[in-house]
Amino acid sequence: MEKLVSLCKRRGFVFQSSEIYGGLGSVWDYGPLGVELKRNVKDRWWRDMVTTRVDIEGLDAGILMHPDVWVASGHVEGFTDPLIECKNCHRRFRADFVEGDQCPSCGVKGEFTTPRMFNLMFKTFMGPVEDEAAQVYLRPETAQGIYVNFLNVLNSSRQKIPFGIAQIGKAFRNEITPGNFIFRTREFEQMEMQYFVKPGTDQEWFDYWRNERLEWVRSLGIRAEKLRLEQHTREELAHYAYDAYDIQYEFAFGWQEFEGIHNRTDYDLAAHQKRSGKKLEYFDQASNERYTPYIIETSGGVDRLMLVLLADAYREEEVEGETRVLLALQPQLAPVKAAIFPLVKKDGMPEVARKIHDDLRQRFHTFYDESGSIGRRYRRQDEAATPFCITIDGQTLEDDTVTVRDRDTLKQDRVATGKLGEYLADRLGG
Ligand code: GAP
Repeated sequence: MEKLVSLCKRRGFVFQSSEIYGGLGSVWDYGPLGVELKRNVKDRWWRDMVTTRVDIEGLDAGILMHPDVWVASGHVEGFTDPLIECKNCHRRFRADFVEGDQCPSCGVKGEFTTPRMFNLMFKTFMGPVEDEAAQVYLRPETAQGIYVNFLNVLNSSRQKIPFGIAQIGKAFRNEITPGNFIFRTREFEQMEMQYFVKPGTDQEWFDYWRNERLEWVRSLGIRAEKLRLEQHTREELAHYAYDAYDIQYEFAFGWQEFEGIHNRTDYDLAAHQKRSGKKLEYFDQASNERYTPYIIETSGGVDRLMLVLLADAYREEEVEGETRVLLALQPQLAPVKAAIFPLVKKDGMPEVARKIHDDLRQRFHTFYDESGSIGRRYRRQDEAATPFCITIDGQTLEDDTVTVRDRDTLKQDRVATGKLGEYLADRLGG
């Protein structure tokens, strides 16, 4: 993990928030490469969950919502974690993360307070008055924005059940014990999809989405042996869930969940119906029935999935007596697709290289580099996950061909400059 955190900073994937002020606990900023990777991950999800599916619509709801939403959803009452404090050093911990009665910080035994339930929602005030009437929450999940828009989307899109609503957006949780880099943070992004189904068909759709999501995660190139599905026990189930599976990854700090598939029954729509007094029902014309749909939810964290991808891609290899560090990300997800190098900074090579760079950049995210030895330039791109490095050398000036080095196999192909776009498109699928 330490090596990965340091690579992420060195290469511009992830920086600590407000670093010049000493950092802000558990908030991270994405640098030039991190933001590209994040966009690629979200674009892939949107393509596979919305664009290519006729049964799913997109949505982008506000982060701030009417405070009654969180009363109805059960979050005001039940979105809590057990908090304990060490009476010796006054550090606070999530009780279920501490084993035994010894303080993980100062080591003193038997000095914990009795657990009290701590609500994880961030509060703020709307408008110029800071009193209870103006208090609103930063959403702790994007899901509720979908539920309260159920009728709006249904009526405007004219979808029929079963159908889904998907959105990607920020969520906030005042976690007691954040940590493990971007794994557990207080501000993060979720990719959630709520699938509305007829009661009685929920088990079938729950099984369908559990398999679909696992297949999708595998399609990102994550090693199969590092992935598993785990069903929640009764005690682990969230307050809204009837049944739930986690997709877990084996991190250096153990098996941990990064996406959940939940059968939320009619819990949310029924609760909003009751509190708002508005009917959130569906009329099935074929069977002439009116009912409150059940919901199957797929809920993943963008940041957590990025940590999975980065951890899974991190490799150290011995090459000709030297250690090579690389991020073997799937080429389609890599932030930069190709780096372009003139072998030397003379003999007209930089001019040819810049021209190739200008041409390719119209279609692919590319990077030009003429500084340092060719070996150092390769090493920098290996750490940045760049799948292809294109070198302009003496032969280029004679026959208009370049070498293309493959990040993973280290094999070099000789390719005509006019065919480079096609060469990359064949390998990147774009
Ligand atoms: N709407 C359901 C829901 O929010 P969840 O299991 O609490 O379910 C879903 O969260 C996903 O959001 C998790 O699988 C994880 O990837 C991400 N997530 C939750 N809390 C997080 C945190 N503090 N930091 C980063 N990601 C988090």
